[in-house]
Amino acid sequence: MLAELFFAGFTGLSIKSLYLVTKIIKVSIKKFYLCKRKLTKTKMSVHSEIKKVTANNLMVMKTKGEKISMLTVYDYTMATIMDGSGIDVVLVGDSAANVMSGYSSTLPITLDQMIYHAQCVVRGTRRAHVVVDMPFGSYQVCEEEAVKSAIRIIKESGADSLKIEGGEEIAGSVRKIINAGIPVMGHLGLMPQSINKYGTYALRAKNDEEAAKLISDAKLLEEAGCYAIVLEKIPATLAQQVTKSLRIPTIGIGAGNGTDGQVLVVQDMLGMNKGFAPKFLRKYASLFDDMTNAFVNYIADVKSGAFPDENEQY
Ligand code: KIV
Repeated sequence: MLAELFFAGFTGLSIKSLYLVTKIIKVSIKKFYLCKRKLTKTKMSVHSEIKKVTANNLMVMKTKGEKISMLTVYDYTMATIMDGSGIDVVLVGDSAANVMSGYSSTLPITLDQMIYHAQCVVRGTRRAHVVVDMPFGSYQVCEEEAVKSAIRIIKESGADSLKIEGGEEIAGSVRKIINAGIPVMGHLGLMPQSINKYGTYALRAKNDEEAAKLISDAKLLEEAGCYAIVLEKIPATLAQQVTKSLRIPTIGIGAGNGTDGQVLVVQDMLGMNKGFAPKFLRKYASLFDDMTNAFVNYIADVKSGAFPDENEQY
């Protein structure tokens, strides 16, 4: 009020009109800040609506007894559908070498090719945790090279974490990669990158010696700082025993129902690969047949001139 009296004298305006002008200005300023706060709140809620699944979240899920769902994915479109369906983890697997490139093993896929697939998946994913396989040859030579490869994948793709095959042999590299700030998922049991050593994709750790090594490798990986471990194609009782002995979650493929989560290759579970039907695989669709029908019908329509009709042209 004192300031208003002073300005009234100074500007020659009546006290009443000056009081009115001041009030209008005060109300406008209040409205502006209220509006700004509302906008910021709306923006914040848009961001907080979709919460990214982190490596830590997955460890908490184990303590709560909540199962972890994981599928492989290699491209943008499939990633958007999967992410929108509510999957917890998407794995940019080196199985891309098989299902995307047609190789008979995972060995030929390169670091650059894995980064390309990971970039496509990251662009299509908002909520799911994106983990990328370190390909054969990108981490086995030495710890320094392993860390360099790991940093390249994360830096160039924007993925959330990495998966590495192996136990004791790679524990040093795992520690170094984690020290660089990158979460690591282990992979034990059937390790497809060692196919030339095994000679077959059959069940692993059937004998006591291999089972004992797997149990101690799992403990080592946990101690090295891994946030989860994939257990591939091992007896269900062994997978359950390992799962119970660890604080970190296990994710099984062909390892029974006693693990903390499950993973499948997406083309396999969608039934796109008709000839592939191992015991552990459940097919949730018959896309091979559905797609074949679609292609056959399209070809027939083009040949007969039935496609396009008058509603499908400009
Ligand atoms: O590359 C892959 O698809 C995998 C899964 C089988 C776990 O590693």
